[in-house]
Amino acid sequence: MSIWRVKPISAFEADMKKSDLKRVLTRWGLTSLGIGAIIGGGIFTLTGIAAHDYAGPALALSFVIAGIGCLFASLCYAEFASVLPVEGSAYAYAYGTIGEIFAWFIGWNLILEYMMGATTVAVAWSGYFVKLLHLFGIEFPIWLCNDLHTATEKILEHNKAFPNEIIDLPSFAFNLPAFIITWVVTAILIKGIKEAASTNNIIVIVKIAVVLFVIICGAFYINTDNWHPFIPTEVPALDALGNATGKMNFGFGGVLTAATIVFFAYIGFDAVSTQAGEAINPKKDVPFAIIASLIICTILYILVSLVLTGMVHYSQLDKAAPVASAFSENGLTWAVFIITIAATAGLTSVMLVMMLGQTRIFLGMSKDGLLPAFFSQLHSNFKTPYKSTFLVGTIISIVAALTPIEKVSEMCSMGTLLAFGMVCVAVMILRYKKPELERHYKTPAVYLVGTLGVSFNLFLMTQVRHDTWIAFLCWGTLGIIVYFAYSKKRAKLNHLEKENE
Ligand code: ALA
Repeated sequence: MSIWRVKPISAFEADMKKSDLKRVLTRWGLTSLGIGAIIGGGIFTLTGIAAHDYAGPALALSFVIAGIGCLFASLCYAEFASVLPVEGSAYAYAYGTIGEIFAWFIGWNLILEYMMGATTVAVAWSGYFVKLLHLFGIEFPIWLCNDLHTATEKILEHNKAFPNEIIDLPSFAFNLPAFIITWVVTAILIKGIKEAASTNNIIVIVKIAVVLFVIICGAFYINTDNWHPFIPTEVPALDALGNATGKMNFGFGGVLTAATIVFFAYIGFDAVSTQAGEAINPKKDVPFAIIASLIICTILYILVSLVLTGMVHYSQLDKAAPVASAFSENGLTWAVFIITIAATAGLTSVMLVMMLGQTRIFLGMSKDGLLPAFFSQLHSNFKTPYKSTFLVGTIISIVAALTPIEKVSEMCSMGTLLAFGMVCVAVMILRYKKPELERHYKTPAVYLVGTLGVSFNLFLMTQVRHDTWIAFLCWGTLGIIVYFAYSKKRAKLNHLEKENE
């Protein structure tokens, strides 16, 4: 019962043969799922905070830095996906190579990536939805579309700006739009992947069209003066009330901080690997889709960030809906409608893929016995893991309704960075230990790319705030406890080991 035992590749293959999931996803269907998961809250919302507070016009540089790190990780993911096209993603890869305890730990961190990712996007969705209602003259009370912390901060800012219109501070707040959208997505997912995939394809087309619209139309409104200085000089950071926080913004340090923020924008390419169980030709198409979706999005992101910071001086960018605000600042009110509607739809598709990914990782872990059978029970008609989807929906809806976006997005990034780093290590181990395995895709210069991938992801983790680290360490400790108290004893590998004795 070693914690380092690995699941034999033959056992993965046997699992795949037994799978009840329907194989419906094509190469471009998978790429579309990838893009559906990638373009979302990162580009539509977090760019505002990253440019306004940390990087200025050098936001494009932050996107390049974060994109390079993700590229290393994606090349490693792609090789794994060609060897082990199973639904557990990085968790399964580690189980097949490094050992059970690592696999468990990655799976535990992927919960942060997918659940907290979907939660972040639910909050971002709420921001754009409220803006959309505002365009139609409908106002949502602040306490009903924010968590308590954010609502208080917004009201304090309002009271400071308009001393004659003081609003009382709320004692309770609940992000109702974020709560509702989570349940809508949960219902779609329980109904089934095929329906979800076709809805997703339409949304992805709309989303790419709008991003191209932002780039092409916005390019005509670029004022190159806004790009100078490209990296603004370092200044002391201030809080909402204008008090010094003791930290610094801008300068090259700011560009790196912004890179950790916009790293969130790239999360999702790996979600493709969680769909392997539903792909028609997973060994070839999953690696293709992982790399293709990441490259397409990286190019779009760099262009969007150049356009945004060229259209409006970074200090004027709105932090809640920066893309829409860049257009309204230039008098293009009609464009704001299009962007806001498309962003709302686009964010929905990110949630769809993130939540789908989470349930499939649970499914993989449950089939291996590391989680209870509850997580792998499929609905008799829909063939979806409806119980775990319901649980995931419940948790996300409650956390999204009550937590500030920056807290959940940072936890999501931490979990993802660690999982990416582990995949880079695992791919090198697999190449060393099992060079003979059939690989439909091979990571180029694997030891170099893998080492750069690990170093880069660990470096970005060091840039995250202190309190996020504490929460992350608590989550990790809880994971280790659950492993030793439950998962290690229940692992299916125990039976396999006994049979082999
Ligand atoms: N990359 C996804 C987003 O930006 C998670 O919303």
